[in-house]
Amino acid sequence: MKPILVSGIQPTGKLHLGNYLGALKNFVELQNSNKYSSYFFIADYHSLTETFDQKEKSGQILDIMINFLAAGLDPKKSVIFLQSAIPAHAELCWILNTITPFGELRRMTQFKDKTQVIFEYLDIKHKNERGYSDEVSDELAIELATNVGLFDYPVLMAADILLYDAAFVPVGEDQLQHLELTRTLARKFNSKFSKTFIEPKPLLTEVPRLMSLDDPTKKMSKSRPQGCLFLDNSPTEIKAKIQNATTDSGKEIKYDETHKPGISNLLLIYSSLNNESIKSIEKKFIGKGYGDFKKSLAEVIIKALEPFQKNKKELSKNLNSVKKIIEIGNKKALEITGKKIIQIKEKIGLIW
Ligand code: ADP
Ligand code: TRP
Repeated sequence: MKPILVSGIQPTGKLHLGNYLGALKNFVELQNSNKYSSYFFIADYHSLTETFDQKEKSGQILDIMINFLAAGLDPKKSVIFLQSAIPAHAELCWILNTITPFGELRRMTQFKDKTQVIFEYLDIKHKNERGYSDEVSDELAIELATNVGLFDYPVLMAADILLYDAAFVPVGEDQLQHLELTRTLARKFNSKFSKTFIEPKPLLTEVPRLMSLDDPTKKMSKSRPQGCLFLDNSPTEIKAKIQNATTDSGKEIKYDETHKPGISNLLLIYSSLNNESIKSIEKKFIGKGYGDFKKSLAEVIIKALEPFQKNKKELSKNLNSVKKIIEIGNKKALEITGKKIIQIKEKIGLIW
């Protein structure tokens, strides 16, 4: 039997190049390697932890599915499904909640980062409207402004993974802490109720943490759209964004994360999309300046995204077939998880 691989992406908006180079491109390569039984899903339950408009949610779900298919995920090779259609995810999440220490979740950096962003939106006026006095500590205000789902997010993620007996989880670097928690919970459950879960390992790409175009000290992230290159950007937008990308002092095209974080980030994009080593790219641009390099990089990105964008256009014309593919994937995932959740409940003594 092949080792199992699971990963998901939240339907929270447009995908950017960080999502592609850190996750989606790798999903496709791993699927096509034929070495794994692959499961990819749309993490719609996770996406409810962020503010959203219910009129947009189903469109966002379909958009992620279209992105999956356009990038090369293939329902004949992988099970592709919707998290909320599989009840066992929420069931296992609840069971895992009961063995998760509160302190572990309190420490999660993604939780801290996300609640910090929420807090920044709460200006002092807003704060007063909600009846907080100025003496309320920042930390308490953050806690009041967030939701339990955001806090519990990593436990649902652990359930997503453990339910499928996944040995590998391809993700970007920002998810490593969540995977570590998943391993801890698997170990804890196994030692309490006997061996039930596999401890999964992360699979990172060569670009596990793509940095923002406008500020190479910050991760490219949907929460900072000004630094993102989106997969849907037109050739004109791509040229402008790369032209305006922050670069460093000096003029050499050389990989040096400490002294040249801007150029190093752009070199990573070039190398990953053009399947070319950084050394070979550096050689190609000896004696040339940032302008030449950026022009060539924009062309590389446009060329790499062209088939993907074309596929997206085609798939968008046929939403019914996209929905069908989700239904087929859901059915397969239901079958597998139905068996696993019974086994888990038996271990705890809920079923005899
Ligand atoms: P965002 O941080 O923009 O909200 P998500 O949390 O939806 O993105 O991430 C989806 C996938 O893309 C995850 O596997 C995540 O680790 C990966 N990812 C997100 N941002 C980056 C980045 N800048 N570089 C590499 N991988 C990333
Ligand atoms: N938390 C992941 C992200 O932000 C999405 C996700 C949810 C996931 N469940 C998962 C990724 C299980 C891998 C495995 O991108």
